[in-house]
Amino acid sequence: MALILDGNSIRDQILKECQPRVAALAAAERPPGLGVILAGDNDASARYVRSKVKACQTLGIYSEQLTPPASVTTAELLEMVECLNQRPEIDGILVQLPLPPQVDTKRVLLAVNPEKDVDGIHPLNVGRLVENTPGPRPCTPAGIMELLKRYGIVVSGRRAVVIGRSDIVGKPMALLLMHQHATVTICHSRTPNLAEVCREADILVAAIGRAALVTADFIKPCAAVIDVGQNRISTQEEVRRIFRDSPEKQAEFARKGSLLVGDVNPLDALEWAGAYTPVPGGVGPLTIAMLMANTVDAAERRLGACST
Ligand code: GUN
Repeated sequence: MALILDGNSIRDQILKECQPRVAALAAAERPPGLGVILAGDNDASARYVRSKVKACQTLGIYSEQLTPPASVTTAELLEMVECLNQRPEIDGILVQLPLPPQVDTKRVLLAVNPEKDVDGIHPLNVGRLVENTPGPRPCTPAGIMELLKRYGIVVSGRRAVVIGRSDIVGKPMALLLMHQHATVTICHSRTPNLAEVCREADILVAAIGRAALVTADFIKPCAAVIDVGQNRISTQEEVRRIFRDSPEKQAEFARKGSLLVGDVNPLDALEWAGAYTPVPGGVGPLTIAMLMANTVDAAERRLGACST
C-alpha cells in the first residue's frame, strides 16, 4: 500500500514560511501584490483563480482580478498586461491559461515583464530554467520538487519519466528533475510502448490530461507516482472502469453527477506505488503555494531593488 503524499500539508508548510516574509514586506513598505487576468468563462480556470485569490487573502497579499470577456482581443490583453507591468504595487502577473482561441497566447505571455512573471513561463525565465540560473519556476513542477524534497524522496541518480510535454508542466518538470541529477525521459501521446517506458521510472509524473491513463502496468513496484491530472468524468462506465465497485465513489458520483480523477488510476497506484499523490489533495494545493512563494520572491526582489 503506497504512502499518500499529502499536498495539503506541504502547502501549509510553504504558506507558513511565506507568512513572516509577507509581514516584513508589509511593515517595511507594502504587502506583495498579484494581478490576475482571467479571460472568458472557462469553469475550471475560474475555480483555480478563486483558489489563488483566496490564498492571497489568507496570506495578506494584495490581489486584483481583471476578467475580460471571452471575446477579448490580443490587443486588449496586451494593454491590460502593460498596465499591470507599469503599476508599482503589482509584483506578480498571472495570465490564467488557456486564453480564448482567437488570442495570440505567446504574444501575451511575452508582454509580461519577466521580473513580474510569477508563472515562470516568459521566454527569458524559460531560458533561466534551461541554464539552471535563478529565476521564477513554473508553479506546478516547482511544487512537485518541494513535495519530493520534503518527503525525502531521492531524485539524484534515479530514473524519472514525465508523461506530457506542455510548456507549463511537462517540459519544466523534466528540466527540474534533470537539474537534480535524475535521468529523465519525456513521453507524450505518440510515444510507442508507453507503459513499458513508464515501468522503468523510479519517479513517474503523469501530466497528460487523460483520466486514469496510468494503470498498474505503467507502475514499477514501489515507484513514486505523481499525478498532475485534473479530469472530470461524467459517465457511469468511466466511474466503473476507474473505481470498479467502490460504493463510496458510486455514491459520490450519484450525488454530484461527475467525479474529479487524475491521470493515474488511484486504486492501481495505491496497490503498486511506494508513494502517491492523490487527486484531489496532492499536486493541486502545491501549485497555489508556489504561486504565493513566487509572488513573495518577486516582491522581495523588487522592493530590495527599489530601496538601493
Ligand atoms: N492553467 C492551468 N494551470 C495553470 C498555471 O499554473 N498557470 C496559469 N497561468 N494557467 C494555468
